[in-house]
Amino acid sequence: MTVQWPSEAIWQAVVPLLPAFTVEVLPEIDSTNTELMRRARMGQLDPLLLVAEHQTAGRGRLGRTWVSARPGAGDYQRLAALTFSFGMAMQPQDWSGLSLAVGLSLAQSLHPALQLKWPNDLWWQDRKVGGILIETASVGALRYAVIGIGLNIHVPVAAAGGEAWRTPPASLNELLPGVEAPDVLHQLLLPLVKCLQRFEAEGFAPLRADFQTRDLLLGRELECSDGVLGTGRGVDANGALLVHTVTGLRRISSAEVSVRPRF
Ligand code: BTN
Repeated sequence: MTVQWPSEAIWQAVVPLLPAFTVEVLPEIDSTNTELMRRARMGQLDPLLLVAEHQTAGRGRLGRTWVSARPGAGDYQRLAALTFSFGMAMQPQDWSGLSLAVGLSLAQSLHPALQLKWPNDLWWQDRKVGGILIETASVGALRYAVIGIGLNIHVPVAAAGGEAWRTPPASLNELLPGVEAPDVLHQLLLPLVKCLQRFEAEGFAPLRADFQTRDLLLGRELECSDGVLGTGRGVDANGALLVHTVTGLRRISSAEVSVRPRF
């Protein structure tokens, strides 16, 4: 695989904001999130972008796996997915809404038609384009945030056929024809760092109105993983999902509850 990554350009853009920042690209690892969490627990707390061209044990939310296709033989410059984690020490007053802020930053950087499915997915035309997995490690008084992002760039033919997927995935190439993983990384990283710094200072509340304009679940009939049915009513100032149910307005902030639109 000879993918050309814009590591130097990204480093130049970000280092004025985060002086100890470094960029690392690996051909393969189990999971970029797992690796940054391992390093944080060993005391490596400097800001770091870790990109993997392939993950053997990618992880999603709620213990799910994140599978991205291995690049095909002969497919030297095209990655099926962009998979990376960005780690930095953070101390916001309130962590709630961070995955929404990250999703919003990605959508704003990449395409006006991208929507956000609470709490951590990017969707387009009712299909998932990517997801976010945020984990934190406490080391002494510091808390290190690992922001893991997986975005479909080219959906493999088998997956695009939809047989093996409950909802077939979408890819960024459908919205941005010809785009490749390095372009996408370059486009989103600096805005992401700015978003994290703004979140640290101001929290989610100032982003709520912008989130609402891309909220996939707003006004939709929903089914929660605990069986409750309702209608999406947006999110509150802390990023909790509001669902109108027969018993009243339900506020869902638990990361353990997943929600699906009922198509
Ligand atoms: C989800 O859809 O539930 C979240 C998916 C997050 C996947 C990314 S890929 C890079 C990073 N490393 C992982 O193991 N997971 C995240």
